[in-house]
Amino acid sequence: MNTLAKSMDDFRELMRRDQVFDIVNRPADNATVDMSHGVALYLESITKSFDGFRALDDLTLYIGDGELRCIIGPNGAGKTTLMDVITGKTRPDAGTAWFGNRINLLRLKEHEVAQRGIGRKFQKPTVYENHSVFENLELAMHANRGVVTSLTWRLNGEQADRIDEVLELIGLTGERDRLAGLLSHGQKQWLEIGSLLMQNPRLLLVDEPVAGMTGQETEATAELLTSLAGKHSVVVVEHDMDFVRSIARQVTVLHQGSVLAEGSMDQVQNNPRVREVYLGEEE
Ligand SMILES: Nc1ncnc2c1ncn2[C@@H]1O[C@H](COP(=O)(O)OP(=O)(O)O)[C@@H](O)[C@H]1O
Ligand SMILES: [Mg+2]
Repeated sequence: MNTLAKSMDDFRELMRRDQVFDIVNRPADNATVDMSHGVALYLESITKSFDGFRALDDLTLYIGDGELRCIIGPNGAGKTTLMDVITGKTRPDAGTAWFGNRINLLRLKEHEVAQRGIGRKFQKPTVYENHSVFENLELAMHANRGVVTSLTWRLNGEQADRIDEVLELIGLTGERDRLAGLLSHGQKQWLEIGSLLMQNPRLLLVDEPVAGMTGQETEATAELLTSLAGKHSVVVVEHDMDFVRSIARQVTVLHQGSVLAEGSMDQVQNNPRVREVYLGEEE
């Protein structure tokens, strides 16, 4: 048996005896992300072409530590490509991308970006429909942790407390034992945000969170995202202008792959260039 196989065997034996709990559930790596300069994300001169078409064109963008930033822009502006670049799904042709002061995102694979503390919420909710709300959060706690994902752990008190805390935050305390498949569309979206929170991300990227939500659900989502800022940096891509207005502090308008305007919602809405781009665009 070679050395690696031997140590994996030892590891499995330890796992069986519940002794690697602390190794596996070590504090999230994001605890070590250096944001001492107050900046969570530095993107500079990012360019990405698809068949000669520049989806991102010399894009420069900074997100502050603990900031809640909204990114808006017409279809095709490059919003999704931007998220893909940050999360390592797409490699840019040029430019630099740093997470805090020390982590070069362009050197990391997609799962490594997630492990370092960048969580991404896709538009369509993905939850384990046949598991309870509580179990969904429990499973999420072990995601991105490699080999041990499928093991049946006994939760320690601290972990159970953390799940309760997240349940409260996402407004699903009363649904903890319900099957996730039985939740409303909005509740599923919150559960997925909760699942991301279980991994304690330092930066959370959220793509069109309120699409398909009722008015009440939209309001609750605004409250949730607002409450996450400070502890996490949150970047929200959204089309719903009323929603953006309700949560926005700083808004970035993307157009043709670069930043067209940045400022408060009032500032960008009154910007003549923004008005021109949006003329006849808004659904
Ligand atoms: N994988 C791809 N292959 C070819 N073209 C792409 C690809 N991804 C995005 N694009 C193009 O890049 C542009 C920006 O797309 P996208 O980032 O999805 O914009 P947004 O999310 O703002 O609507 C669009 O014109 C789109 O067609
Ligand atoms: Mg998109």
